[in-house]
Amino acid sequence: MDFLRMIYIFSIFLITFPCLIQSQQPYVGKATTRCGSKDNSTSAFGYTCNGLNRTCQSYLTFRTQFPYNSVSSISELLGADPSQLSQLNSVDDNATFETDKTVLVPVKCSCSGEYYQANISYVVQRGNTYFVIANNTFQGLSTCQALRAQNTNLTTKLLYIGNRLVVPLRCACPTKSQVDVGVNYLLSYLVTWGQSVSIISLMFEVDTGRTLEANQISEDRRTIYPFTTLLVPLRNPPSSSQTVSPPPPPRSPPPPPPPQHLSSPNHSSNKKWAYVAAGALGGGSFVLVTGIIVFFMFFGRSPKRNDPVLPSGNFEAIEKPREKKSEEESEEFLDSISAIAQSLKVYTYQELQSATENFSPSCWIKGSVYCGTINGDSAAIKKMNGDVSKEIEALNKISHFNLILLSGVCFHEGQWYLVYEYAVNGSLSDWIYHENSDQKFLNWTQRIQIALDVATGLNYIHNYTSPPYVHKDLKTSNVLIDSDLRAKIANFGLARSAEGQEGQFNLTKHIVGTKGYMAPEYLENGFVSTKLDVYAFGVLMLEILTGKEVTLLYEEVNKHLSEVLLPVLHEENGNENLYDFMDPSLQGNYPAELAILVAKLADCCIARDPAGRPGMDEVVQSLSRIVTTSLSWEQAITVSRRIAKLQL
Ligand SMILES: *[C@@H]1O[C@H](CO)[C@@H](O)[C@H](O)[C@H]1NC(C)=O
Ligand SMILES: *[C@@H]1O[C@H](CO)[C@@H](O)[C@H](O)[C@H]1NC(C)=O
Ligand SMILES: *[C@@H]1O[C@H](CO)[C@@H](O)[C@H](O)[C@H]1NC(C)=O
Ligand SMILES: *[C@@H]1O[C@H](CO)[C@@H](O)[C@H](O)[C@H]1NC(C)=O
Ligand SMILES: *[C@@H]1O[C@H](CO)[C@@H](O)[C@H](O)[C@H]1NC(C)=O
Ligand SMILES: *[C@@H]1O[C@H](CO)[C@@H](O)[C@H](O)[C@H]1NC(C)=O
Repeated sequence: MDFLRMIYIFSIFLITFPCLIQSQQPYVGKATTRCGSKDNSTSAFGYTCNGLNRTCQSYLTFRTQFPYNSVSSISELLGADPSQLSQLNSVDDNATFETDKTVLVPVKCSCSGEYYQANISYVVQRGNTYFVIANNTFQGLSTCQALRAQNTNLTTKLLYIGNRLVVPLRCACPTKSQVDVGVNYLLSYLVTWGQSVSIISLMFEVDTGRTLEANQISEDRRTIYPFTTLLVPLRNPPSSSQTVSPPPPPRSPPPPPPPQHLSSPNHSSNKKWAYVAAGALGGGSFVLVTGIIVFFMFFGRSPKRNDPVLPSGNFEAIEKPREKKSEEESEEFLDSISAIAQSLKVYTYQELQSATENFSPSCWIKGSVYCGTINGDSAAIKKMNGDVSKEIEALNKISHFNLILLSGVCFHEGQWYLVYEYAVNGSLSDWIYHENSDQKFLNWTQRIQIALDVATGLNYIHNYTSPPYVHKDLKTSNVLIDSDLRAKIANFGLARSAEGQEGQFNLTKHIVGTKGYMAPEYLENGFVSTKLDVYAFGVLMLEILTGKEVTLLYEEVNKHLSEVLLPVLHEENGNENLYDFMDPSLQGNYPAELAILVAKLADCCIARDPAGRPGMDEVVQSLSRIVTTSLSWEQAITVSRRIAKLQL
């Protein structure tokens, strides 16, 4: 038994850590902050001299920050040759860089005893400690451990202003096994906020697996931290066009500690909710049973997450000055960004050029989106500036019929290109707004099916991914329609993990989204939870029912969107008002009872109080019953029309 167990453990070891066998350099990880530690299992003291050569040309990156923001000042700090540095970054010798720009620095790396390093000399300034010098001045290009270990000639342990220190910069030379696969240089890349191994590899057009291997990072523990170096194995010297990294994502403050009463779910909504469900039950219990079976077969399991919701009055947490605990904060943030899968195909720019006839106007869809043909399949290609890491990260972890599939990426001259599956029928906004319905028309059942598709997609990201995601920008133009008139949610650019300390909530000061779809608690307090998407989904359902854009709907109300539903839901002659409420292009061809149910569902979803909104799992269950009942209704009217024809 024990023997088998050992074999098992050993084989797992072989599978998950193939890189240990090749022995490159261990990633330094969190060790950079533990200055007193003598632990040398990470590369905190430097990268081991295990390369083919004892000296080599290598490269570092550095982020400009005053006063180190010009070719001359950076060269002086890092002991680089100014003319080489300016050439490498394609700038003049006397150039000044903008702040926070990534600059490439050429250094001669050599073996000093046990470790590879580039020695430079630094004069201690006011406020310096070993950690501040390593982390703040040199941004992680050196470590406090290495500084301490190599400045033993100082008579005291304390640093005095004016002391001259040796600063060993972290660099390394390729090992034999790396040289064998064509690696000629190792770049010590300074990790910054929001980056992952895959993003950095993509920037330098390097295989992610190679980078992981070079840093002995295992597949399943890929978290990397700002102000540490990641070795990027390069065939050719790096070029300045490769250093354009996505801007860091907004740093959100950490979530406040969950209030005590948070864990007890709010039941007040359940009553309102019950009659929607009860109404839908009338649609036929057979249908219900089938629906539930299909639902569980499809998803396999049913985790029940209660969205904890902050009660109002608990928002002073945002204004409170926070104790700065940068280290913990950054770790928390980075832990939440887990790795990007390697399933993504990396396209060359030439491939995209030939797919889109060199981005010709005939291939243009809208905005910065082009359609093209790659290997015989249609694809949508989106050109993006700025931070794409969120979208790549989100889409790579989630794969579902109702979410648009990201199939590949390309990075070219500072621009990202994302390649998606192509939805031939455009966006839902092209179909439902009454004004621009040229030819396009969706009947009742098609509309409800689309609503169910969207709900299913949202349910998936809320309840079946880990961590759960909030899409944050659901709207009709982000719902794409495929050839079978089925819907897929697109545009995960704003999506973020919904993970708070105890559950799915978070606070942000950075309000982004689309007007009309944003939930009140988000607009007013920056409060993020999966209930944001539920609200936006309610708005989307209203648009599907009425055929009106949300801005038009707002023109009809005083304060809150739910007022548009008053005539239908809260007046005696609701059914009579229904005809005026519904999209006129439907011409009354819908089952009125079901239409009222959907209106009630929308009403619950746009409840002002997030706790009053249902979860997407509940929405999916109700809508699937409504869809099946609608199908029976459609069959029934087709049959009765045929009978009527026969009788004529
Ligand atoms: C770590 O240090 C110990 C002695 O302090 C030494 O025997 C060992 O080889 C070192 N390990 C590495 C990876 O340098
Ligand atoms: C930099 O030097 C070049 C000549 O080497 C000169 O033409 C240019 O004006 C200088 N720029 C600045 C900002 O001093
Ligand atoms: C770098 O500095 C360390 C510590 O002073 C020293 O041991 C080493 O020989 C130096 N290496 C080079 C290449 O100058
Ligand atoms: C490390 O330095 C950076 C840049 O100055 C700073 O933002 C960060 O807070 C520092 N880290 C710690 C743990 O102090
Ligand atoms: C310590 O040694 C380095 C060279 O190894 C030298 O540059 C520096 O001045 C010395 N510091 C002191 C305080 O003697
Ligand atoms: C190693 O040294 C040899 C001989 O000096 C040189 O030709 C080769 O390019 C070096 N390799 C690397 C990876 O630096």
